[in-house]
Amino acid sequence: MNQSIIAQKISALRQAIQTHNLNYYTLDAPTITDAEYDRQIKTLRELEEKYPEYATPNSPSQSVGGPVLENFSKVAHELPMLSLGNVYSEEELAEFVERIQKQLKNTQALTFCVEPKLDGLAISLLYEHGKLIRAATRGDGAVGEDVTYNVKTIKNIPHTLKGDNIPERLEVRGEVIMPIAEFNAFNQLAIANDAKSFVNPRNAAAGSLRQLDSNITAQRPLAFYSYGLGVIENGSLANSHYQRLQQLKAWGLPLTQEVTLETSTQGCFEAYTRLLQKRPTLPYEIDGIVYKVDDIELQEQLGFIARSPRWATAHKFPAQEEQTRLLNVEFQVGRTGAITPVAILEPVFVGGVTVSRASLHNADEIQRLNLKIGNSVIIRRAADVIPQIVRALPDDQQNSRDIIFPTTCPVCDSEIERIEDEAIARCTGGLYCAAQRKEAIKYFASRKAMNIDGLGEKVVEQLVDENLIHTPADLFSLSVNQLLPLERIGQKKADNLIHAISQCKQTTLPKFLLALGIREVGEATAKNLADYFLTLEALKQASMEDLLKVDDVGDIVAQHIVAFFRQKHNQEVISALLAAGIHWPAIKAKEQQAQPLAGKTFVLTGTLTQMDRNEAKQALQALGAKVSGSVSKNTSYVVAGEAAGSKLSKAQELGITILDEAELLQLLGSF
Ligand code: IVH
Repeated sequence: MNQSIIAQKISALRQAIQTHNLNYYTLDAPTITDAEYDRQIKTLRELEEKYPEYATPNSPSQSVGGPVLENFSKVAHELPMLSLGNVYSEEELAEFVERIQKQLKNTQALTFCVEPKLDGLAISLLYEHGKLIRAATRGDGAVGEDVTYNVKTIKNIPHTLKGDNIPERLEVRGEVIMPIAEFNAFNQLAIANDAKSFVNPRNAAAGSLRQLDSNITAQRPLAFYSYGLGVIENGSLANSHYQRLQQLKAWGLPLTQEVTLETSTQGCFEAYTRLLQKRPTLPYEIDGIVYKVDDIELQEQLGFIARSPRWATAHKFPAQEEQTRLLNVEFQVGRTGAITPVAILEPVFVGGVTVSRASLHNADEIQRLNLKIGNSVIIRRAADVIPQIVRALPDDQQNSRDIIFPTTCPVCDSEIERIEDEAIARCTGGLYCAAQRKEAIKYFASRKAMNIDGLGEKVVEQLVDENLIHTPADLFSLSVNQLLPLERIGQKKADNLIHAISQCKQTTLPKFLLALGIREVGEATAKNLADYFLTLEALKQASMEDLLKVDDVGDIVAQHIVAFFRQKHNQEVISALLAAGIHWPAIKAKEQQAQPLAGKTFVLTGTLTQMDRNEAKQALQALGAKVSGSVSKNTSYVVAGEAAGSKLSKAQELGITILDEAELLQLLGSF
């Protein structure tokens, strides 16, 4: 590379990182992802290493964080608050361990204290004589901000330590976070009130802690976890980092449950894998794991390099947020006509998968994000959660264009209505709309409903597009020959599909009700409706009043049900489905269901040991059985206890089923 180009590149990177530091540390408004920030730092470091002639001590690669806000008073840290280096793979972890062993001239196994890397902001708590006297942010590592009043509002931070042998001066360091559940609740409320929401829990924690009015902080659900110590005066502590953390816990300071000791590189890596798996179930966000040499003397021997200790490193998890570009917005029509805007993205690897589409939910969401096509956007995908756009970056507004929400359905051109106070816009086309038809048929065929094997999305789409079916009832008159011309359908698949369609005719009433796709009627409601009305006929005739008597059926669901059965088209489809041969076993009323032994006659003889005869009689009667005193050919079962006599021999003569006491108990217990 040409020298002046290198100089320019280094200077541009430094400027960019300084701006990001300001945005991130001071303004709590980052404009790039952590992953991108880490990459920029890494590139800068690499360039500075390769071209040492350009390295300077005031490069942002050599310091931590951003400048201090003027409004808080400043706190000079007695011991600097440093940062951590990173490793990104098992090999880099092994290199980290080897480096330490080499420096210590130690080939023996080292013990590491392994902790989650909490994603919040670092804080220093100074206790004197066991009393919390000052709390400070990290700031630039050398000078932080005094946030004592705010920190004192955090509920799990003790103002007074409990127990013995507390050093006279003790500086506890740790992370302030906002737990995920609290963050979600806070944001939902903020969105509902048109107030400012936070982009992620870390920003929420940072924004909340750096309020000039501590009353505001007090209303924010923050929490603190300790991970280390700064100043220790007049007191002695264990020589193990792990034991020191346990000691902090004993004095009343919060510690996460995920701290372990590992005695090998392998053990450290296993801890990483375990924690990564556990990540989605933890109550707080973590962005990696931290490995720390446990022995404090060894820590001291190892010391620091510019930005971070040599005795610790962070192993980062795959980023859950990445930056990409919004290429377009498509509008999807759902089964009930709901129009959902879908973001089409430049593909980006985030949270372990490549994402190229993300739901934008509704028009309000687009407005809230102030989103325009062409914007750079931050995509977030936490494990097992659908990807979402969390914010648009304020850059390149000139080259962007507005997202126009359609006024007519993009599929059938029917009008779109948006009921006031409802966020959702809907196509009014009903089953005239091919999109709604497709979705209704997919739903009908789905596993929970009619469970038609092989009738997946693609096939339904082709069948509707080719005008082979208009309603679910049309499925039952399809022939193999009609299927064969379709794409990717051969003889075998066509045969199987026709077979599966005919097989599904034998179903249950709840599944059939679910398959009809009545709005707001899911599996549980379908089951409750079937249990209550017993027959389709009775449900069809049900009034609002009747419906409201069913478990979990409220006004809105009842209205949807009445409206559904009133519609002529729906009545026709139901008749056609029944005419095609769909059937289900009759459902017995609750009273009958509770009488599984109705019609059976029992005779009890001999001595029972677990219950007396009267109890047995009552239990059988409660299940609908008749209990008689003498054995005849009408007796269904004879229960023979100990020392049974003539009744038992008579039963044997007549060939009647004989139960012993254990079998009786088993029978009673099976209902
Ligand atoms: S130890 C000298 N342990 O990560 C060692 N830091 O990138 C300094 N963090 O500023 C930190 N969890 O805000 C340490 N278990 C943990 C941590 C942790 C989160 C944060 C902390 C620090 C940053 C370093």
